[in-house]
Amino acid sequence: MPQDSAQPDQPFDSVDDVSAKFASAGYIADRRVATTIYLQSKLDKPVLLEGPAGVGKTELAKTLAKVTGRRLLRLQCYEGQDETKALYEWDYGKQLLYTQLLREKIGEVIADAPDLAAAVERIDAQDSVFFSDHFLAPRPLLEAIRGEEPAVLLIDEVDRADEALEAVLLECLGEYQVSVPEIGTYVAKVPPYVILTSNNTRDLSAALKRRCLHLFLDYPDAERELEIVRSKKTGLPDATARQLVEVVRGLRELGLRKNPSISETVDWARTLAVLGVEELTAEVVSDTANVVLKYERDLNRALGVLPSLVDPNRELPASVGHGHGHGHGHDHEDPPPDEPDGRAKRAAKDKPGRHDGYYGSPSQGSRSFGSATRRRPG
Ligand SMILES: Nc1ncnc2c1ncn2[C@@H]1O[C@H](COP(=O)(O)OP(=O)(O)OP(=O)(O)O)[C@@H](O)[C@H]1O
Ligand SMILES: [Mg+2]
Repeated sequence: MPQDSAQPDQPFDSVDDVSAKFASAGYIADRRVATTIYLQSKLDKPVLLEGPAGVGKTELAKTLAKVTGRRLLRLQCYEGQDETKALYEWDYGKQLLYTQLLREKIGEVIADAPDLAAAVERIDAQDSVFFSDHFLAPRPLLEAIRGEEPAVLLIDEVDRADEALEAVLLECLGEYQVSVPEIGTYVAKVPPYVILTSNNTRDLSAALKRRCLHLFLDYPDAERELEIVRSKKTGLPDATARQLVEVVRGLRELGLRKNPSISETVDWARTLAVLGVEELTAEVVSDTANVVLKYERDLNRALGVLPSLVDPNRELPASVGHGHGHGHGHDHEDPPPDEPDGRAKRAAKDKPGRHDGYYGSPSQGSRSFGSATRRRPG
């Protein structure tokens, strides 16, 4: 998307400008996000995004590329990935093909060599031809630095990469340069905007964190989530969408193995719109809860509390107890009286390693579970 008034390397005039441009590209950025992106564009620092699945980390990088008109380069990290997949490889096939095609020429070079050692020496002297830019296969890091066009470099799920690769990243991100011993050092003409994302499956090194602007993306507040649902034009009436957002937020308090993400709220809204739902009822919500709950245990747990999430004034029949409605006993504790509303869980988010368990630690939720079944006073 070409920029109107803005310079290509100064794409944003202000924090508000970031919000406006992102909104027009379909990404609802809160103030913190917009400020971080604005600072990134001014300071040329990488941004490290951490947070649970589906809160818009990857989408943020894609949107940044869209609104700045930069090309998006993506390095998807995985365990066991080695640096050749991140930096560059020598194009062995091409080298081989060229040596075949140039066989005669190579023959000429070594034709009058008196012995094998001399022939090898002459070939050696030609090495630089085959280890030149021409035979280099750049991977995303090098491409982002060497490429003619400015780029947004998305280093996705960096927590899945090994520490060795993290070291390579550090080197590259510190100076925005890559050294290829046979050729020399490439320095970025325009530093790429780098976005790293992490689901915190392991701790990243302090050195990496230090080089980045750090942003923790959590589930949005109700208003922003509603705004996101609205922006996706799901077709669900606004009042119903508002109710749905509250239900999803209630589900997130249950300590499920996999919390419903923003994209799942949007999917749920679309599902309900397709069914022509205009008002949420316990029944329709329960019938469609499988859109957002992907584990049987989570679904069973949620089914018991969904009626009270849809209508917080509703008293559940005594037989349903604290929630399951499927008639067998579990050993959930009730919330201790001094810890209503999952407060302890939220407080834990402010501690180091706070989001361990996004992928579901068994101990995660039973304490806050009771919160969703609380009745409104009176
Ligand atoms: N602020 C937002 N504005 C608009 N859409 C959003 C926003 N946040 C999330 N979404 C929607 O949620 C979807 C999921 O987001 P995304 O894939 O970026 O999540 P993620 O954080 O990268 O998750 P994961 O950790 O699983 O990779 C996006 O495709 C987008 O539709
Ligand atoms: Mg992602």
